[in-house]
Amino acid sequence: MTKLKVVITRQLSADAQKLLDDVTDLHVVQWPSEKPCDRSWLLEHAKGASGILVMLTDKCDEEVIATAGPQLKVVASFSVGTDHVDRPALKSRNIRLGYTPTSLTDAVADLTVMLVLMAQRRGGEAMRAVIDGKWPQMPWHPFLLTGPQIRGCTVGFLGFGRIAQATLKRLVPFGIKRAIYLTSKPGKIVKEADGFGVPTESIGSIEELATDSDVVIVGCPLTEQTKYIVNAEFLARMKKTAVLINIARGPVVDTDALTSALDQGQIFGAGLDVIENEPNIQADHALLKQPRCVLLPHIGSAAIETREEMAIESVKNLLAGLNGEAMVNEYEL
Ligand code: DGY
Repeated sequence: MTKLKVVITRQLSADAQKLLDDVTDLHVVQWPSEKPCDRSWLLEHAKGASGILVMLTDKCDEEVIATAGPQLKVVASFSVGTDHVDRPALKSRNIRLGYTPTSLTDAVADLTVMLVLMAQRRGGEAMRAVIDGKWPQMPWHPFLLTGPQIRGCTVGFLGFGRIAQATLKRLVPFGIKRAIYLTSKPGKIVKEADGFGVPTESIGSIEELATDSDVVIVGCPLTEQTKYIVNAEFLARMKKTAVLINIARGPVVDTDALTSALDQGQIFGAGLDVIENEPNIQADHALLKQPRCVLLPHIGSAAIETREEMAIESVKNLLAGLNGEAMVNEYEL
């Protein structure tokens, strides 16, 4: 019997690898390194694949899907975001898409809280001063590196899915006053019987969200509609004391507009886990010159347990797709 071919674009954790290797009737073609796989390698090996397991750094576009051929049954993405996958191309061919939204919710929500506190309390700027040997020139004084407090804040969520809701739950014990959100899927908000423990309301417009929030958390998927949704106009409406957090995808925020908003003191600070054109960010990038901007290299889900769970879930989704079974999480195309 001919073995079904599957292509895996990265090395996996031991448990996930075992799950895959235990399936003996598969011909597994796997990128041999921890680094992102070459596009030319993916195109070469996709040919004839029935399943492809990709990372968010692999563009799974029309070219890859067409190159794979008509036997392709499933694409499993090791991520919650699926903007790197051509979803219409999958839908038109009845190819299923698996993703890992549930396993990373807590890890990303934890990191979001960290970014909020870093941005408000100037964590990046303070660390940089110490590392640069500037502490002796800036001894303690009452106003040294002060920033807004989280207690009493209105937190605005652009996108209110699992991660945003888990973030809100973490922020409530800090004493925030109110949460507001804008979502394209209002029907999907599952409120617990006792609510979130703080007044939480869907807001009418993006303008209101920008104006009313002390903390704006961007957690929406990247789509044609959300690209640059945070632009110069949005930033100009924000309070001077407010911070912007982006844990979604870089292009949701217009980087030039953010750089100039920080430069001109239009907003207090920013905490970013993602940025346009990542990872090609050089040390002389304009945003890195902004002391009130904390930029992390897309580590939202980088908790050890989470990454292991994501790997296992991706393999399970891949196998379920091959076998016509229910996935752990299937993207509704
Ligand atoms: C994902 O998996 O899409 C996220 O970017 C993780 O942080």
